[in-house]
Amino acid sequence: MKALIIGSGGREHALASKVAENSNVQVVYCAPGNGGTYKENKCENINITQIDELLSFAIENKIDITIVGSEEWLVQGIVDKFNEKGLKILGPCEKAARLEGSKSYSKEFMKKYGIKTAAYEVFEDENKAIDYLKNCEYPIVIKADGLAAGKGVVICNDFLAAKSSINDFMVVDIFKGSGKKIIIEEFLEGVEASILSITDGKVILPFVSSKDHKQIFDGGIGPNTGGMGAIAPNPYCTKEVLDEFYKNILLPTLKGIQEEKMDYRGIIFFGIMITKKGVYSLEYNVRFGDPETQAVLPLMKSDFTELVISAIGRDLENFELLWKKGYSCCLITASKGYPGKYNTGYEISESGKLEGKLYLAGATFDDGLLKTNGGRVLGITGFGETLAKAREIAYADMKKVQFHGMYYRKDIGK
Ligand code: AMP
Ligand code: GLY
Repeated sequence: MKALIIGSGGREHALASKVAENSNVQVVYCAPGNGGTYKENKCENINITQIDELLSFAIENKIDITIVGSEEWLVQGIVDKFNEKGLKILGPCEKAARLEGSKSYSKEFMKKYGIKTAAYEVFEDENKAIDYLKNCEYPIVIKADGLAAGKGVVICNDFLAAKSSINDFMVVDIFKGSGKKIIIEEFLEGVEASILSITDGKVILPFVSSKDHKQIFDGGIGPNTGGMGAIAPNPYCTKEVLDEFYKNILLPTLKGIQEEKMDYRGIIFFGIMITKKGVYSLEYNVRFGDPETQAVLPLMKSDFTELVISAIGRDLENFELLWKKGYSCCLITASKGYPGKYNTGYEISESGKLEGKLYLAGATFDDGLLKTNGGRVLGITGFGETLAKAREIAYADMKKVQFHGMYYRKDIGK
């Protein structure tokens, strides 16, 4: 078998190495891949990123399965284009990708199918939005409707902050069109969980739960990032929480996918908030999470490639999805200054053997040297019988990696 993984993050490194574990897989092409996939067993980086080029590559090279990392390609309809050519690809059709691509669409979907979510209003006129904000309870949440590379949500503590965000989103247009339409949403207090799941349109199989750490600083302080670390399973996801999630969020979502006649054979990632008033659906992502994937996939006992083939073949109900016992903890290390401005091009060195698994992200090979080339540079996932052990391994390993200005949180999974 030949596989194609589209994307260049730590998530894609984790996907490529997991697909490569299957003995029938001869080669895993990574488009464009990174310094990690460059060195990974069976993997080969190819420098293409446009949908038409990817499609031609997949046809010419007779690719058996394609997995898409980032939402960008999914909302552009890559899955429909591959399907038209009879190519097997894991992901939602363009219509279903709107569950992530448009927050107003996904909120409307949740409302229509009775899925518990925060109360909200949609605005396309900044004056109406500002009028509405005058009588709101604070804090309040403002969200850009379209894709904004994970930066399109702000929590505002008072009217002035909210008004200023409306101006940034709708007038200054900082998200280049994605924030012209906005959602103003009730603030929910609680703890978050990420539940990655796979669907074939007939069933949805949830993976072990996980917990992202979105803010840049310890204690959940500072601006949001792509994710500074993840643990799995999420200790807040008790049996009661998961039962409630299954009944009130997962099952009605599946009903919605079916009634809306979406061709959804891909990953559906539920962002949920566990509150005193119950479990709420925060958002859908139509792809793997980063860094959740680096924490969750290594715990999968079943063959991942077989699972993907089964989802594409609409045969998940016959798949027994098994998990390893224990915990994982993935620490992300970033370039100094991230998520703001940062410099790149610093050499990355390792001293001593790592006990956990290293997933490279914003790192590339340049003249035979591994160098930083992004904000989130790499991640290390530790495993253990307990979360404390998994953390200990990840933190001990991180001391063996060096690059100029490296920064990581000290409280992942604490
Ligand atoms: P989203 O892209 O909708 O998941 O939002 C990004 C992050 O903003 C979430 O992971 C939460 O941390 C936070 N967030 C989103 N919606 C709410 C809400 N209604 N109440 C509190 N926090 C929220
Ligand atoms: N870690 C959150 C995301 O991938 O959207």
